[in-house]
Amino acid sequence: MVMRFYVTTPIYYVNSTPTLGHAYTTIAADILTRHHRQRGDETYFLTGVDEHADKVARVAAEQGLAPQEYADKIVGAWQELPRRLNAVNDFFIRTSDDGHKRFVQEFLQRIYDNGDVYQDVYAGWYCVGCEAFKTEAELVDGRCPDHGTEPEWLEEKNWFFRLSAYQDRLLQLYDDRPDFVLPSYRYNEARSFIAGGLRDFSISRATQTWGVPIPWDPDQVAYVWADALVNYRSALSYAPGETLERFWPAVHLLAKDILRFHCVYWPALLLSAGEEPPRQLFVHGYLNFDNRKMSKSLGNVINPLELVDVYGVDAVRFYAARATTFGQDANVSVDDVRERYERELANDLGNLVSRTTAMIARYRDGVLEQTSADAPWDADALRGRLVDAFDRYDITGGLDEIWLAVRRLNQYVEESAPWQLAKDEARSDELTAVLYNLADGLTAIAVAVSAYLPLSAPRILDALGQPSVDLSLERVRGSTAVAASGIEASAPLFPRVEPPAVAA
Ligand code: MSP
Repeated sequence: MVMRFYVTTPIYYVNSTPTLGHAYTTIAADILTRHHRQRGDETYFLTGVDEHADKVARVAAEQGLAPQEYADKIVGAWQELPRRLNAVNDFFIRTSDDGHKRFVQEFLQRIYDNGDVYQDVYAGWYCVGCEAFKTEAELVDGRCPDHGTEPEWLEEKNWFFRLSAYQDRLLQLYDDRPDFVLPSYRYNEARSFIAGGLRDFSISRATQTWGVPIPWDPDQVAYVWADALVNYRSALSYAPGETLERFWPAVHLLAKDILRFHCVYWPALLLSAGEEPPRQLFVHGYLNFDNRKMSKSLGNVINPLELVDVYGVDAVRFYAARATTFGQDANVSVDDVRERYERELANDLGNLVSRTTAMIARYRDGVLEQTSADAPWDADALRGRLVDAFDRYDITGGLDEIWLAVRRLNQYVEESAPWQLAKDEARSDELTAVLYNLADGLTAIAVAVSAYLPLSAPRILDALGQPSVDLSLERVRGSTAVAASGIEASAPLFPRVEPPAVAA
């Protein structure tokens, strides 16, 4: 049976340009997608942008542009993000797409027809940065802790979604599926929020014009979240491709800033519209810079594309997966990126490839002979551990396992000292076996690491004369390398680079 894996990133607000924080989720989604492809699963990967936010309309006005004009101008910077990160998204959604807008209207109409919508007046403190109402308790010194801004008083007659009516069904869903939200501490957070009692929320805005018109009351537009969340489902209805609906339900990746919208509002909206709730939600932490969440409004951002320019895309992907256990917060810095690049990519992995190819070239005229000597490590176990880790969305744990293997092979080079064996004709078979074990180990490692380093992995395989198109996980095993010839000392995979002058 073919398994399906549909993964999404949040759709990012277009009020500014991408930061390393946005790149983070996109990279994680791509690593997961590539891994599932390696398993032979049928995958679908969606990312895109959220355009109908009040904050987008405000930035447009500041620039003297209509919101759509502004969004059309800036969307290129967001489309460039997955491309430059080597992310293989199947579709890039814009909430201004006609197909999306049509689907949102039809979706909201269903909720209305089910009797889950009523009209009421709401008044409260609204944070435009979060595009959400805030209770006094959520503010710190009267300001939004995430954006550092004072919320605005908002009072309007709106359409409300009867979220409170879904409390029991949501609790049931959570109880039936203890891994509905991961990691488990986020599951507990979401579940206690639901158990604490749910307040209905407004799904329309009367004073805004930028957005999707409410079908039964076109004088109002959909609240940005009631529009944006639906993207995960709407894309399958109009993106190019046949019967994409088969991919529903999805795995949603998000950071903890938008946990409630995804883990509480979204499943309730889906249930009301008669759709299946998400398959799973994985909530990751923040990339912090100077101990504060990196965000444009705080001005403490790292531009991911500048890092890609300097260190290459694989190094940025590697850093994203390695900087912290996926799920937890991380303090990031440009120095840290450089340090990992030099120590782990260039020294641990890059040198191992250079040394192995150089020794095969020098001692065996570039010929790799297959032997059946005992391997210095257990590649089959690595395959199993990778699958386990990815089933828990533990992309950091998966990479840790691979790196243990890289370090084990480096140790093996030192222990077996091929340069000594080469001096002794009587130990020629031993040398042949050591060289095969190194090439074989590196072949398995290259396949294993290809979800993280999609550019470098085929280079390693090519350098070793191994097939580099089929990256199926089955190749992560012992005796996977085939005999080869013409192997030459390879150029450094991760050459020395000049650190960026102003990357922060
Ligand atoms: N438009 C909404 C999401 C709607 S989804 C239906 C939104 N957009 S956003 O541009 O603010 O993006 C937030 C998401 O970007 C986070 O949930 C996370 O996935 C990613 N990140 C942005 N900055 C981040 C960090 N500093 N650290 C980790 N992730 C970050 O919210």
